[in-house]
Amino acid sequence: MTTEALRKEENKKPFIIRNAVEEDLPSVMMVNLKSLPENYWYGFFLGILKAWGRFFFVAEVDGVIVGYAMSRIEWTSDPVLLGLYNELEEGPLAVMDKLKKFVSRQYRVAHLISIAVLEEYRGRGIGTALLQHTIQAAREEGDIVSIYLEVRVSNTPAIRLYKKFGFKPARIIRGYYRDGEDAYVMVLKIRDPESTKGKSAFHLGIL
Ligand code: COA
Repeated sequence: MTTEALRKEENKKPFIIRNAVEEDLPSVMMVNLKSLPENYWYGFFLGILKAWGRFFFVAEVDGVIVGYAMSRIEWTSDPVLLGLYNELEEGPLAVMDKLKKFVSRQYRVAHLISIAVLEEYRGRGIGTALLQHTIQAAREEGDIVSIYLEVRVSNTPAIRLYKKFGFKPARIIRGYYRDGEDAYVMVLKIRDPESTKGKSAFHLGIL
């Protein structure tokens, strides 16, 4: 059956989104391998799952994993990642602002590391649902200031998906990918940093 025929057939079937469990990881790795050139070793997926399983979702059709989205929580004081400054609109951060990153307060952000849907299941809302769950999980956490991700500048479907939820390209990282392509850093601010406690760099053991 051609991909197009298979897509039409599979489009009729309902999908569910749920949190990933360890047994899902081989299938998740398969989806990742088939969908993206950025691949990771088993221990990487497992580490993310164990630490941040509440931010690791899979999409299932007929008991088969057809997509996933995995994120981890990080601490940062980078104004771009916090959704407070847009380098593409306001110009690159000044050196002093970059230095401030090491002395100012740190806040929790969610980093969407990878999201993918098998080709024959795309275009039917699974990517949207995976992202919806990720954003909801970040909101429920209570003190997550923003969600950020990197995306190839040429990846129109993914960029459209992110923009649909209000993510904005806020930085460009030249030559980010192994093949030399640039990445946009896209950010969705979900909360004002001042409404959360944050931590000083001292508390994090950085200073
Ligand atoms: N061209 C342009 N925009 C597209 C598109 C296409 N072929 N397919 C999807 N989109 C955009 C649309 O804005 C769509 O929203 P709409 O249908 O309301 O207009 C939105 O993406 C979501 O579509 P959806 O069906 O929910 O997404 P999906 O299940 O097809 O998954 C990806 C989207 C990006 C996860 C999927 O294309 C994929 O796995 N790509 C390969 C891996 C990848 O690039 N991951 C992102 C790395 S940063």
